[in-house]
Amino acid sequence: MTEQLERPGAQEWVPEHPDSIDALRAAAPACRGCELWEPATQVVFSAGNSHADVALVGEQPGDAEDTRGIPFVGPAGQLLQRALEEAGLARDRVYVTNAVKHFRFTPRGNRRIHATPETSHVAACRPWLAEELRLVDPQVVVLLGATAAKALLGPSVRIGKDRGHPIERETSQGVRTFFVTTHPSAVLRTPEDARDAAYAALVEDLRTVVGLLT
Ligand code: URA
Ligand code: SF4
Repeated sequence: MTEQLERPGAQEWVPEHPDSIDALRAAAPACRGCELWEPATQVVFSAGNSHADVALVGEQPGDAEDTRGIPFVGPAGQLLQRALEEAGLARDRVYVTNAVKHFRFTPRGNRRIHATPETSHVAACRPWLAEELRLVDPQVVVLLGATAAKALLGPSVRIGKDRGHPIERETSQGVRTFFVTTHPSAVLRTPEDARDAAYAALVEDLRTVVGLLT
């Protein structure tokens, strides 16, 4: 059997006509759409308001998220939370999820080092994300970093040139608004002398998103 056939993608585990995010969330732990479920502790689905105006899409859960089963609760999540507050995006206006729902890592001693998901993992997991966005149907989908941006806008997206402005795209539900910005983990990895500026740019982008809401 080819690798492709052994790893069918999430579609067969996604309920056919889910009427709510809760119905999706309840189905997600059974997913075997790619091999990432096995070493991970648990699936990390989504959090926040399932009728939100803004959906934020990250890359994949990190170590803390894998342990707790909730997205964006570790260091990157804390930075994101602060940036959202500074930008005036109230918690009840956002839905938070990831392009990939299981933590990919490399064991090193008793530590687990983040490993960027492959394009094949993103593709395998995309049926969940597609269904989430269909159900939430936010005004703006904010893509945090390259993995999320490529997952929904294709491989040619570049954070540097595409960030900071609305991008209209045809979807199965009609034209929808996407918005690319940096990932909060990238802000944390920025050398100290440039980190404040990277954080300020993230807040500025989130303010732009607030300005797009009606
Ligand atoms: N980084 C992400 O992209 N998602 C999380 O949930 C946590 C960290
Ligand atoms: Fe399924 Fe996504 Fe987890 Fe892979 S990463 S097993 S596709 S939920």
